[in-house]
Amino acid sequence: GIIIGGMFLAAYLIGALPTAVWVGQAYYGIDVREHGSGNAGATNTFRVLGKKPGAVVMLVDIFKGWTATSLAGFLLIFEAIPADQVVIYKIILGTLAVIGHVFPVYVGFKGGKGVATLMGMVLAVQTEVALICLAIFIVVLIAFKYVSLGSMLAAVAFPLLLLLPQFHPEEPLLMVFGVLIALLVIFTHRKNIGRLMHGVESKISFSGRKS
Ligand code: G3P
Repeated sequence: GIIIGGMFLAAYLIGALPTAVWVGQAYYGIDVREHGSGNAGATNTFRVLGKKPGAVVMLVDIFKGWTATSLAGFLLIFEAIPADQVVIYKIILGTLAVIGHVFPVYVGFKGGKGVATLMGMVLAVQTEVALICLAIFIVVLIAFKYVSLGSMLAAVAFPLLLLLPQFHPEEPLLMVFGVLIALLVIFTHRKNIGRLMHGVESKISFSGRKS
């Protein structure tokens, strides 16, 4: 009823908090969406404004996903849902946060690509799988220097890892949402895919021209 609806709305509103836009505007007088890849995410903040703001945006955006997902705990406390459904509600809440991050109401629905927020959600739902996805991301990033490629492969790995017997969820809807979110992340990276195929995707550099 109203508690579940309220939590769904809260999850969206948390995910929609436009960290990259607000950090850029407040501390640098810059809307990162007008620079670099034009994306309102940690990667583009790193690219346009530097390591420190990039790290802040990344951590806050991960925390948004984790927090929204963990709202499922309130649903349990208020006895709005049965205990055996907590995982599926976590997934729905986390998905709403990712959607909020991509389509944020506060700044004209033009947000980020959902990667850090998704990581926060998976951390809250299935920590072991999240750490494997993180490892995939890091290995791809070090090998190829493309954040976008690492993001997409990590997002696609999430539902695939759930196929493994040791991670196989009791709740089959988890799989459905995993696939949907992977498709959403591919969709948000559609321009990156075009750039990767044409060999013009920007590589990330850690040597640090900016602080
Ligand atoms: O975090 C999003 C990343 O996968 C790509 O970002 O700015 O390089 O398009 P960007």
